[in-house]
Amino acid sequence: MPDTAQVTTSTDGRVSADAPPGLEGVVVAHTQIGDVRGLEGFYHYRQYDAIELNRRRSLEDVWHLFFRGHLPDRAERDAFTREIAEHRVLPGDLTPFLGQVAATDPFDPMTALRTAISFTAQRSGFRSWLDISPEQLYDNAMQISAQTPVLLAALYRLHSGQEPVPPDPDLSAAANYLYMLSGQRPDAQRVWALERYLVSTIDHGFNSSTFTARVIASTGADIGSAVTGAIGALSGPLHGGAPSRVLEMLDDIGSPDRAEAWVRAAVGRGDRIMGFGHRVYKGKDPRSALLREVADTVGGPTAEFAMAVEDTIVRVLAEEKPGRALNANVEFYAGVVMDACGIPRELFTPTFASSRVIGWCAHVLEQVSGNRLIRPSARYDGEAPPQPVPPAD
Ligand code: ACO
Repeated sequence: MPDTAQVTTSTDGRVSADAPPGLEGVVVAHTQIGDVRGLEGFYHYRQYDAIELNRRRSLEDVWHLFFRGHLPDRAERDAFTREIAEHRVLPGDLTPFLGQVAATDPFDPMTALRTAISFTAQRSGFRSWLDISPEQLYDNAMQISAQTPVLLAALYRLHSGQEPVPPDPDLSAAANYLYMLSGQRPDAQRVWALERYLVSTIDHGFNSSTFTARVIASTGADIGSAVTGAIGALSGPLHGGAPSRVLEMLDDIGSPDRAEAWVRAAVGRGDRIMGFGHRVYKGKDPRSALLREVADTVGGPTAEFAMAVEDTIVRVLAEEKPGRALNANVEFYAGVVMDACGIPRELFTPTFASSRVIGWCAHVLEQVSGNRLIRPSARYDGEAPPQPVPPAD
């Protein structure tokens, strides 16, 4: 593959372009949902600075912004909050199925969530958006976004031998998630910290899982398929699978004075340092800066340790990989914040999915509003065809 896009004429005379590896820098859609300006360390949700929005608004308000296109006033907020609460209620006969998924050995919550969402979409009769009204598709999007954390908490509790805790309609999204996991009313600081994390990860430009969701939606598939595929894309360590690995790395480093030698040895082996580097941000990742503040507020030994080693890791990476601008990304403090909120490590990546699902669904709604099938090409560079087919032995 070439390093830069090249416009060429193909054999049928049509003009085409070779995109760079990883589609880096290639514009593949127009969107009004948000964007990332990597060099400025800035990202936005619609017309608002995502960090400022996060400091000033609730998850529900931001969800409204994504789905309805504007921030709600008081009456809209109350109506939308009721709508979310109604959509959180799982179809009645789902528990035996969730129990079976939760009993699978080995239990991987992200795989279990993917399976549960696929089943829930089928059980709820989700169909191709070409065969339903825009109102029905919006309703499907609300249901899948509202039920993702409910399914995740139920799977986790069933796997731990506990009964699922039904959502409480009087609790916010962040409070409900902690409540459904533990069965205890969460304290306000944990709810605040988790909500900051969840809001920070709802959307982030044309990342791999969002692109996946839009590709699937562009075929006319139901929104359950789009979300299921997006979860698969998010599960990879190069995308959403890093935060638990960050805590494993911190455990392994053990103490701040060991950080430098640990990172040099890891980079020397060709390993990637989890929670560092980003395709788009070559300066600071603003989500990481926000979550560092949150970690600092919540405190605790893991937060203190992470803050103590961040600068060392950045310095060593700059020396070992000069010119790559490898800074802490969102995942470095994500694990630290979730840990401080009492979320078990194995739930870090699926918890990421539980907020990103709002972004995926908003993108699906946007995709279908002006759909064109996403169907790129690949340049064949294998053995020249047609070769004679050898006779069978
Ligand atoms: N540790 C060590 N070296 C790194 C790291 C890292 N974390 N990230 C990039 N590099 C190096 C690569 O080895 C490569 O070096 P080389 O030129 O000597 O071969 C160079 O920097 C460029 O790497 P690419 O893979 O081309 O950069 P890309 O933009 O594709 O990478 C990515 C982005 C995948 C996030 C990468 O930085 C990485 O693997 N980070 C670790 C995993 C991680 O934190 N993932 C979460 C990302 S945030 C999110 O998706 C929500």
